[in-house]
Amino acid sequence: MPAEFRSPDWDSYRMDMHDPHRKLEPLEHEVRIVDRALEHLCAAGIIPHTQYDSDKMLAFRAQVAASFDIPWTAITPRQQRLIWAVNAISQPKTMVAAGVFCGNTFISNAGAAVGAGAVYRAERLIGLEIKQDEAARAERNVRRIDPSGVAKCVAADAVDFVRGMTGDINLLYLDADGAGGRGKGVYLDILEAAWDKMPKGSIVLAHNSVNCAEKLAYYLAFVRDTANMAASMNVVIDGEGLEVSAR
Ligand SMILES: C[S@@+](CC[C@H](N)C(=O)[O-])C[C@H]1O[C@@H](n2cnc3c(N)ncnc32)[C@H](O)[C@@H]1O
Repeated sequence: MPAEFRSPDWDSYRMDMHDPHRKLEPLEHEVRIVDRALEHLCAAGIIPHTQYDSDKMLAFRAQVAASFDIPWTAITPRQQRLIWAVNAISQPKTMVAAGVFCGNTFISNAGAAVGAGAVYRAERLIGLEIKQDEAARAERNVRRIDPSGVAKCVAADAVDFVRGMTGDINLLYLDADGAGGRGKGVYLDILEAAWDKMPKGSIVLAHNSVNCAEKLAYYLAFVRDTANMAASMNVVIDGEGLEVSAR
């Protein structure tokens, strides 16, 4: 059995993708579920501790709600908090997010280092989106909250871009749906392109570990094999899921 954290209500916790900022549950409940997930990730050795600044997270959330143009998103408030917290805790100097669409997933990662919720200083935060118009929208969104330019979204095929990168990648977020016909299978192509740049302790987050588990079978088999990753856990706090893996 793959390592897993599953909240009891994961299947009944639902969002309207066109109304992503609507409150779905009491804040204390959201915090408790995400805290439990972080405790499991820490116990598995994937993150070093579970402490993060919840007020900063809420400042980040409010800034995104006020300034981002989001036509739709499948990132639930729980998932947004989890992704932000993993970044706030692991503090990647270089973070790459692949398949960022309008930039909401990108900023869920990068928002731990830029904007109103920043809790550490990063060097490079890169969002990759293959569709030119969506990449341009994502970049416009990000510029509204990060005047520093540390966080950037660019139009590129994530496999090619990551292959050409130099320097370490400390956190890789995967969400591309493979415009080239590979579908979610492109996750493994992107990870393979990043592999020799990811040092021990680096983290990979893969969205849709639940609702696209079949299409991600090769990817999930790879990261759950301890010959490849030190540890990996399927975090099931909503219907989409997030596979969290550490080298
Ligand atoms: C389904 S969207 C992700 C949306 C995100 N889960 C959310 O809820 O906001 C996937 C995005 O990946 C992009 N994409 C597909 N293949 C890609 C690739 N090879 N490189 C970069 N982006 C890619 C698509 O254009 C699309 O915008």
